[in-house]
Amino acid sequence: MALYTVTSEIFTENKNAYIVKSNSAISNFIFKYPSYMIKSKCLDNIITYDNDDDMDIDRQQEGKLLIEHYISTELQYVGLQVWRGALLLADYILSNPDLFKDKTILELGAGVGLTSIVASFVAEKVICTDIDLKGIMKLIRRNFMRNSAYIKSKVYIKELNFLNLQWPTFYKKRMNEATVILAADVIYDENVTEGFVNTLTKLLNSKTQKVVYIALEKRYVFTTVNMDVNAPMYEDFLGYIKKKQLNWHIEYIKIDFPQYFKYNRVSQMILLKIENVLSE
Ligand SMILES: C[S@@+](CC[C@H](N)C(=O)[O-])C[C@H]1O[C@@H](n2cnc3c(N)ncnc32)[C@H](O)[C@@H]1O
Repeated sequence: MALYTVTSEIFTENKNAYIVKSNSAISNFIFKYPSYMIKSKCLDNIITYDNDDDMDIDRQQEGKLLIEHYISTELQYVGLQVWRGALLLADYILSNPDLFKDKTILELGAGVGLTSIVASFVAEKVICTDIDLKGIMKLIRRNFMRNSAYIKSKVYIKELNFLNLQWPTFYKKRMNEATVILAADVIYDENVTEGFVNTLTKLLNSKTQKVVYIALEKRYVFTTVNMDVNAPMYEDFLGYIKKKQLNWHIEYIKIDFPQYFKYNRVSQMILLKIENVLSE
């Protein structure tokens, strides 16, 4: 039987990849520096003067992340590729640094780690997690090493499987610290989506105020059952929340914030903000 493989649109949209092995590449993800990064770069640099005694400030306006990833994978290994949600969330972080600055941030289903790497530009601690399949934890570590010049925060790279809520001691100790939770493009499969909602339920069942940012791309399909076009996984996600009668505050964030990374920010992309409602 032929194996069903998928290739992220990001690989075809981003022309800055070089192939390292038959199915694996390292891509340059170029991003514009937000104004606050240009300023801090200038402060960090030694100021030099040109022949006319004018200040010669390093005016480099772009940064570059080096990300190792696969080119195509079977559905169960999609974390080894980069998806649009990772870039949307990275843009949101760069656009709103004050929401993430000095925070402990937990990313779920981090894939190759791009969003966590961007979060670590500003956060105090980043806990970057995924299910450990096909060497993904080691790949994330390599990606953090490749981009270490940008990393300001403490970084923990750990396995967290949505389908196993028996967490090891590390999580019991750290989970209350994490007040910001990120997840990009983890709503694409029925079991994973249900496990994701269960994981969020456990995380948000806390006396600490937490905020979750979820980026996703609504993937529309035509179903013969409904004889209509719908986005079944996204609808399942909302359905699980409703069924569990979760007391969450859910808000849609407009996706018109500045775009720093190069990708096609399609209109089917969604950014959700979920907060736990603390009882008095
Ligand atoms: C489409 S990828 C998105 C990866 C990355 N966030 C991005 O946007 O590029 C879906 C992610 O969910 C993760 N995932 C799938 N099943 C999981 C599970 N049971 N527990 C935790 N993460 C899981 C995958 O490994 C993968 O990293």
